[in-house]
Formats: sequence, structure tokens, C-alpha cells
Amino acid sequence: MPVAGQEKLKVLIRRAAIQKRVREVAHQITRDFKGQRLHLIGVLKGACIFLSDLVREINLDTSIDFIAVSSYGKGKQSSGQVRVLKDLDSSIEGLNVVLVEDILDTGITLNYLLRILRQRKPKILRVAALLDKPSRRVKPVKGNYIGFSIPNEFVVGYGLDYAERYRNLKDVCILSLPPG
Ligand code: IMP
Ligand code: MG
Repeated sequence: MPVAGQEKLKVLIRRAAIQKRVREVAHQITRDFKGQRLHLIGVLKGACIFLSDLVREINLDTSIDFIAVSSYGKGKQSSGQVRVLKDLDSSIEGLNVVLVEDILDTGITLNYLLRILRQRKPKILRVAALLDKPSRRVKPVKGNYIGFSIPNEFVVGYGLDYAERYRNLKDVCILSLPPG
């Protein structure tokens, strides 16, 4: 993988460990919603790879939809403002919904999404996130299904980006930028 300038990548979670954990999370979801229909909502773009692996390990009558929000500009810092860039295609009223996120960081995005989705009256609304950085929380939100809790490092790969790059890495890696 070519790396721009002085950017450095260090593997944090290997592909095999991700696959194993995604399967475990999917089995937990399958058990929790046994005999019921499930509606997964992926938060674009970061969750697209997690969602596509997760849904194939879920053994339930499952539908999917996507929502796109922006909270980060091009860099590493959240702007604190969340905007819907692409809304859901269909109503979630009365559905068992699991919102699928790449990572819970400050919780600002999730807090906003839970608020607007609750207004649409799903029967159940839960949250699955591949990664969680609990030490960074500004809003008191929690995921119901968490892949890995990680330290306060900026990570890329398996869907997560830095300025739209690195989403295609198979491992989750810590990205270090040159100083300045
Ligand atoms: P929050 O609103 O601060 O919780 O941030 C949520 C969004 O910020 C995530 O869905 C990611 O898209 C992005 N994000 C937060 N931390 C990271 C990171 O370490 N790497 C890449 N994206 C991140
Ligand atoms: Mg995201």
C-alpha cells in the first residue's frame, strides 16, 4: 500500500481477528433477534465494509438501508456539526433497527443519529460499531454491539479513512502523520 509523504501505518487489528469478531457480533445479533425481522442501517461511508461482512453472517430475515452524514471535514478533527447528506430510502416505523457505525469516537454523530431516528418510531433501535474509543466521549452514548474497544489513536482501514484514503486496507491500522 503506497503511503503519502511521511505518513506511517502500524497494524492495530489484523484481518483475521476482525473476521472472527465480526462473526461473533453477527451471531449475537442473530440470537437477540431470533424469529424476528431485522433492518440494518449503515452509516456511510465508513461502515460499508463492516456492514457488508456483518450482514452475511447474520442468519435472519434482514433488509439494509444507508444514511450518509458529515461531521468531519477532510482531516482528523470533528467539526461538531452533523448534517444528513443522504437520508434513508424507506420508513423504519415499527422495525427492529440496528444502526451500523464504523467507530464511536466523541459520540456526537451517534447522538444526533439516534435522536433523528427515534423520531421515526422504530420498534427497537440498537447500535453496532466495529470500534469504540470510549476515552474520547463528549456525548454519553453507548453501542449495544461493539467489535473492539481501542485506545485514543487515529485509525484507518476496513472502511475507515483519512481524507477519503485508506478505506481499502484489510487491517485496522494506526495512522501517524508527520509533525506540523
Ligand atoms: P464522532 O461523532 O466523534 O463519534 O465520530 C464519528 C465518526 O468520525 C466516525 O463514524 C468516523 O467516520 C470518524 N472517526 C472518528 N474517529 C476516527 C478514526 O480514528 N479514524 C477514522 N475516522 C474516525
Ligand atoms: Mg463514520
